[in-house]
Amino acid sequence: MEPETKEALDAFVDLALITEVLYPVKSGKEATVYACRAHPDTGADFLAAKVYKHLRERSFRNDAAYQENRTAMYHNTRVKRAYTNGTEFGLEVHFMLWVGQEWEHLNKLYNAGVYVPVPVKTAGRAILMEFYGGEEGPCPILQHAEVPRERAGDLWKLLKANIEMMLQANFVHGDLSPYNVLVDLEDASDPLRIIDLPQAVDARFNPNARDMLKRDVDTCYRYFEKRGVRDNPNAFVADLWRRWKRAEL
Ligand SMILES: Nc1ncnc2c1ncn2[C@@H]1O[C@H](COP(=O)(O)OP(=O)(O)O)[C@@H](O)[C@H]1O
Ligand SMILES: [Mg+2]
Repeated sequence: MEPETKEALDAFVDLALITEVLYPVKSGKEATVYACRAHPDTGADFLAAKVYKHLRERSFRNDAAYQENRTAMYHNTRVKRAYTNGTEFGLEVHFMLWVGQEWEHLNKLYNAGVYVPVPVKTAGRAILMEFYGGEEGPCPILQHAEVPRERAGDLWKLLKANIEMMLQANFVHGDLSPYNVLVDLEDASDPLRIIDLPQAVDARFNPNARDMLKRDVDTCYRYFEKRGVRDNPNAFVADLWRRWKRAEL
């Protein structure tokens, strides 16, 4: 484990939120998620720590679309320039902002009732949250879950209700797909969590929000359509957007 990662996780140990880091759940381009044993005082058995990687561990993507999406949050043009030019300073500031964004979105969406992991704490480059899973491990992402056809309709309905709750809170996820939804097929009353929120946008201020909403809905619908669900995603998006604009959500 990188010293910077260890440092980030040690903060949660010092705060008596976790007692031990158990195993990495998944390591992506920018972050690694660890399963941790929760401190008994938290009332949880496990917690998930998402730790954004230190600069030298990351594979930095340089394509224009990716950067465009991410530079939208900069109000400081000097930092934006440093980031787009790929300087170490710019990249570090960028990733610290990224953690802050994900933490802020997680809290706002949780408070709005969206089915996201319960936020616990942020420290440095890490976020501590509810671990969606159990003794036997994390729940799978929707893409890897074997959703039987008779469950697909209800999951799609619940996902749509969550997309609506997000928009009600003025958010569009922006990277919603079967890779960023966790499902627990055993728990019929609480079967999903929406994760991976740093890129979420405020629909009031982001001119691309409607397009992003449409892409999110289309991407998820394709998954469910293959499993027998029949719906009209264009009508869903149009109706949702119209009601949100009229403040009728
Ligand atoms: N709260 C959580 N509980 C259980 N597993 C999680 C949790 N958050 C993330 N994961 C796992 O970690 C993976 C990566 O998390 P994610 O937030 O999507 O980061 P990224 O895609 O940017 O690497 C997810 O695909 C999921 O398998
Ligand atoms: Mg993800």
